[in-house]
Amino acid sequence: MAAADLEAIARKMVEGGRGILAADESNSTANKRLGKLKIDPTVENRQAYREMLFTTPRLGEYISGTILYDETIRQSTKAGVPFVKILNDQNILPGIKVDAGVKPLPGSPTETLTEGLDGLAERLAEYAKLGAKFTKWRAVITPDEKNKTPTDYAIHVNAHALARYAKLAQEAGLVPIVEPEVLMDGTHSIEYAREVTERALHCVFNELHDQRVLLEGMVLKPNMVIAAQDCPKQASREQVAEWTVKTLKRFVPGAVPGIAFLSGGQDEGEATEHLNLMNKLGPLPWKLGFSYGRALQDSSLKTWAGKAANVAAAQRALAHRSKMNWAASTGKYTTEMEKAA
Ligand code: 13P
Repeated sequence: MAAADLEAIARKMVEGGRGILAADESNSTANKRLGKLKIDPTVENRQAYREMLFTTPRLGEYISGTILYDETIRQSTKAGVPFVKILNDQNILPGIKVDAGVKPLPGSPTETLTEGLDGLAERLAEYAKLGAKFTKWRAVITPDEKNKTPTDYAIHVNAHALARYAKLAQEAGLVPIVEPEVLMDGTHSIEYAREVTERALHCVFNELHDQRVLLEGMVLKPNMVIAAQDCPKQASREQVAEWTVKTLKRFVPGAVPGIAFLSGGQDEGEATEHLNLMNKLGPLPWKLGFSYGRALQDSSLKTWAGKAANVAAAQRALAHRSKMNWAASTGKYTTEMEKAA
């Protein structure tokens, strides 16, 4: 596909404050989230849940794209309308997760390597035929100050795979979301999170450059620079915003049209406030938005609880979180907007 087409899709994914709904949980992750709410982990319930999300009225005002999973991109509503058509009719681009998940890294088994390069070109061609416009691959980087991870080895092999995937996606006419996630699990400090995020981004952009990935035709999906969940010393929201923007400015070329954060375990309000504070630090070289999973879906899933009678309320919860993050993507979010809803 021509570079101009990839660039147009990438811009559409991040412009106007709209963000990406990450609904690409694998079947096992989706089942775990349903199971926590005592909802049977069946294909019917996974389908009903995704149907509730995607048919949310006016979702396309705040959401530019949705990341699907292999099962979901082939599914339809109960009435038989393909999910891909439902999303297109809402002016939401369908995307697809194409990595095959993480495995222990040979030689450094407390770290992981994301798999899925074998046969990837063929799978990408099929997903393009099914209507996908963009793709996602998630690399996981595990900070542990005591064990001195991540190793340079882990960062390098994961960055290499991310760039291999990104180039193949572009060759198939699909915009790659490049996601090097530095986990916020554990006890590490914000200082360590910054150091590791810098090392990861540095290596990822070297690999993207070496493997001839078109930066204008991709979207970066990074973590924020934030202390781990169990670190006794938590940074202020302002510090998270400032350090994240500073780090991104140092390591992400301005040619990249947009950066869409993962939420990584932050609660809904926190993820919105951090994004808003960052956008207030502008002007920035790229659009700064969201590609949240849990921080968009948590309230909606709890409200739904597997019951058809709760669909309208669960959709209102998703529309509300989407609107709050849309506002935060232009720095116009206020906590009063939460109360107004
Ligand atoms: P979270 O926002 O829940 O971290 O999920 C985003 C995602 O897609 C992780 O790969």
